[in-house]
Amino acid sequence: MKIGVIGTGYVGLIQAVGLAHLGFKVVAYDIDSSKIEILKKGTPPIYEKGLKELLHQNRERIIFTSSVEDLKGSEVVFVCVGTPQDAKGKANLNFVFSAIESLKPLLTGKEIVVLKSTVPVGTNRKVQKFVGNKAFVVSNPEFLREGIAVDDFFNPERVVLGFGENHPKWVMEKMLKIYEYFLKKEVPFVVTNWESAELIKYASNTFLAMKISFINELARLSEKVGADIKDVAKGMGLDSRIGNKFLNAGIGWGGSCFPKDVSALIWQFKEWEIEPKLPKATKEINEEQILWFLNKIRKHYGGNLSGTFALLGLAFKPYTDDLRESPSLKLAEMLIEEGAFVKGYDYIEGARKNVKKLVEVKTSTRYSYGLIVCDELKTAVEGVDGVIIAVEYKEWNRENWKEISKLVRNKALFDGRNILKEELIRELIKDGWHYEGVGVKPK
Ligand SMILES: NC(=O)c1ccc[n+]([C@@H]2O[C@H](COP(=O)([O-])OP(=O)(O)OC[C@H]3O[C@@H](n4cnc5c(N)ncnc54)[C@H](O)[C@@H]3O)[C@@H](O)[C@H]2O)c1
Repeated sequence: MKIGVIGTGYVGLIQAVGLAHLGFKVVAYDIDSSKIEILKKGTPPIYEKGLKELLHQNRERIIFTSSVEDLKGSEVVFVCVGTPQDAKGKANLNFVFSAIESLKPLLTGKEIVVLKSTVPVGTNRKVQKFVGNKAFVVSNPEFLREGIAVDDFFNPERVVLGFGENHPKWVMEKMLKIYEYFLKKEVPFVVTNWESAELIKYASNTFLAMKISFINELARLSEKVGADIKDVAKGMGLDSRIGNKFLNAGIGWGGSCFPKDVSALIWQFKEWEIEPKLPKATKEINEEQILWFLNKIRKHYGGNLSGTFALLGLAFKPYTDDLRESPSLKLAEMLIEEGAFVKGYDYIEGARKNVKKLVEVKTSTRYSYGLIVCDELKTAVEGVDGVIIAVEYKEWNRENWKEISKLVRNKALFDGRNILKEELIRELIKDGWHYEGVGVKPK
């Protein structure tokens, strides 16, 4: 079966390579011809663990193209283009509709068009109306997590499929055939209508963001009352109804999905004249959290942030090069605005490269003269007045802190992800470091 994929970003590329690995012939199309040229050479333009190797193994089953006509003859086409937020926070569907518009002339009435992009409730219905009887539209929201996306493709926790009420039976049968590998692995399938499938995606992301915002708000209270948020989260998380995931207090969530999806859900509530109380609070707490953390740093320096800081971690989460809505970069911006000089470092080379590109844009005064990217941790911490951990790499624990102690000018450490282990924190404090986490009481 020939399968088409539109958009070769984080979702589309994983989908294309993953399906090729399962034995399908895949045509992966993107309007960005520079991306396609890189892919044709066998190099993924993004960093995801295992992706390069997987792409290599399955090269002969994938055609990368910037010519939409090459999608002709695909029985199923997955639409994986971006759905960023517009200026008001609403989902911008221009990429989705322009992709469908370019695909439409190639459709013959027998194809299935699958929306993998995260789209507001009602979009699949609109797309079906737009393509008329030239194709059947299926909603199949994506749940992969950047950083472990390849593993998530082969081991999803669920597959959600949403169909239109008038779809013939073969549409579902074909979708189940494509995903037979997951059925055999007994991955749970949720087969539902378009609207429910669309809402599952927004509800899931907003719920996860809400868990983080909840624990972050609680961390502020913990600091005031003398509780330790790590112990509080542990005690809460042992209740299986609550679970321990997404209960790590920190500087807040970012990334390519949570911010835009929470905002888009807020809009969907508003459009139906329902007050989006929890999603709104989730967003507001997150916006405050980074300011709250900056304030802690500011306080330590008596209100003067004109020193030099090492910023550890640059992307929005570990093991990715994706900088979209990165809390670390937001922090960098805020520090620079207050007169600080920031030396950034991330373990992922692609993340460092992407930040270097941002810094090089001379018109971007946000970073131009206040941020440099170091290729080694040693260089980043050398001579600084403070070290800030902004991304939760466990690896920070394994660094040589004795050496770091000798390199910094001032032993002040702000752990914005509560990632350092108690034992290490104790050693650092013994060594004269000022340590500050998020809602924690070093023991
Ligand atoms: N990134 C994630 O972790 C993730 C996870 C789950 C769901 N999603 C959702 O999946 C969708 C895609 O996200 P992403 O992170 O892969 O985006 P992305 O920006 O990395 O990739 C989108 C790709 O689509 C291409 N494109 C845009 N318009 C096109 C068109 N008309 N024709 C062909 N190609 C076109 C772009 O050039 C780009 O390469 C979004 O709706 C997102 O919310 C993302």
